[in-house]
Amino acid sequence: MTGGKEPTASAANTHWGGRFTAGPAEIMRRINASIEFDKRLWAEDIAGSQAHCAMLVAQDILSAQDGAAIQAGLAQIKAEIESGQFVFSEAHEDIHMNVEARLAELIGPIAGRLHTARSRNDQVATDLRLWLRATIERIDRAMRELQQALIDRAEIEAGTVMPGFTHLQIAQPVTFGHHLMAYVEMIGRDRGRLADCRRRLNESPLGAAALAGTSFPIDRHATAATLGFARPMANSLDAVSDRDFAVEFLAAAALTGTHLSRFAEEIVLWCSDGFGFIALSDAFTTGSSIMPQKRNPDAAELVRAKSGRLAGSLAALLTVMKGLPLAYGKDMQEDKIPVFEAADALELCLAAAIGMVRDMRPDREKLRAAAGRGYSTATDLADWLVRAAGLPFRQAHHATGEIVKRAEQRGCTLAELPLAELQAVEPAITAAVYDVLRPECSVASRRSFGGTAPDLVRAAAAAARQSYLVDE
Ligand code: ARG
Repeated sequence: MTGGKEPTASAANTHWGGRFTAGPAEIMRRINASIEFDKRLWAEDIAGSQAHCAMLVAQDILSAQDGAAIQAGLAQIKAEIESGQFVFSEAHEDIHMNVEARLAELIGPIAGRLHTARSRNDQVATDLRLWLRATIERIDRAMRELQQALIDRAEIEAGTVMPGFTHLQIAQPVTFGHHLMAYVEMIGRDRGRLADCRRRLNESPLGAAALAGTSFPIDRHATAATLGFARPMANSLDAVSDRDFAVEFLAAAALTGTHLSRFAEEIVLWCSDGFGFIALSDAFTTGSSIMPQKRNPDAAELVRAKSGRLAGSLAALLTVMKGLPLAYGKDMQEDKIPVFEAADALELCLAAAIGMVRDMRPDREKLRAAAGRGYSTATDLADWLVRAAGLPFRQAHHATGEIVKRAEQRGCTLAELPLAELQAVEPAITAAVYDVLRPECSVASRRSFGGTAPDLVRAAAAAARQSYLVDE
C-alpha cells in the first residue's frame, strides 16, 4: 500500500512526464531502474531532503507550513522504511523518486515543492558521499581492530623464532611477532589512504542542481554544514559529474584487498601439512564431505579470492568514468554497484582476518625447527667472519658457501658441523662461531632500526599501539 501507485506501461511518468504521452518500454524500465541497489541510500536520501527542506524554509523559498508538512512526511517515510513496511517500486526508478512518490501520497501536491532548486543529479552525488563517508568510518574501525589483534599477538610472539623467506625459500630467521607487525604497517598505510579519501570527499554537491546551479537564492553553505560536509563543492558541473571519491575509495579498498590476500595466502601455507606453523580452530575451517581427516582454511582462501572482486570493482568504475563528457550521464548510475560490492567484500574480509588472527594457534616448536633448516644462519656465519676474523664480505660469503656445501654433504645443520670441518675451510674460525649459528642468536643480533630482534619487536608493538590505537 506504500511506495506509490504502479504507473501502467502506457501512462507517462508522473515525475517528469509532462512532454511524454506514453510510458517506457518494459526493457527501458528494467535497464533504467536502480532501485534494486540504490535503496541502500534511503537514510542518506532522507537526510539530504530534510536538510534541503530546512534551508528552503530558512531562505523563504518555501513557506514554514509547507516545510513542516514535508518534514512530517519525510519522518513518516523514514519510519516506514525502518520498520520494513515501505514498498520499493521499480516503476519509480530510483530511491529519490520512490521517496518523493510516497511523499506525494502522504501529503499531496505540496510534496512537489521539495524538489525546488535541486535535481536528482546533485541529490545522488550527495547521497553517495554521505553513505561512503559513514562506510569509510566503519571500515577504519575494522582496520584498527585488525591492527589491535595483530599487535596483541605480535607482543606474545615477539621472541618466537620462525624462518623468514625470500622466493618462498628459507632465508634468515625472523620472529613471528616481527612478521605480524609487517601487516600492522600495511594496514596503517591503508587507513591513511582511506582518511585522505574521506577528507577529500567531504564536500557537498547539494544545490549544484542539474549542472549549472539554480536561480533560487539557496544557501549551499547551510546544507553543507547540516550534513556535516566541510564546505560546498566549488563548481556545479564538477559537483554533479565527479566520482573521484568513489574511485579513490575503490583504489584504497583494492590495495587493502591485495594486502589481505597476501596475509590470507600465508595463513593457507602456514596451516598446510608442509609448514604446520599454525592451526585454526573449527571456527575458521571446514571439513570435507568425502575426506574425513580434512580441515580446510576456507575463510583464508575466500579472503585471498575476494581481492579479485575488489580490484575488479576499481577497474569497473574507472572504465565507466573514462571518456564521460561533463556533466551528468546515466552511466554514472552504475557507480553504486562496484562501490557497494567492494565495501561489502572488504568488511567481510576484515572481519574474517580479525577472527583468524585471534583464532590462530602458532606451533612454536615447528616454527623453531623450520627456522633452523635451510642453513638459515649462513649470513650470520659470513657476518661473523667479517667481524671476528676480519675477512672482506665477498671472501666471507665464498667461505660460507663452501661450509654450506659440507653441511649439505654430511646432511647436518651449520651448527652441527664439527669445528675441524669449519676450520678446514677457514682456519681463522674459533668455537665462538657456534654462538651465531643458532636462530635465537641470529634474531637477537638483528638490532638495526626496524630489525627482527625480539626487544625491538616489543618496542615496535608498543610504538604501533601509540600511533594506531590511541585516539588523539
Ligand atoms: N538514479 C540516478 C543515479 O543513480 C539518479 C540521477 C538521475 N538523474 C538523471 N538526470 N536522470 O545516477
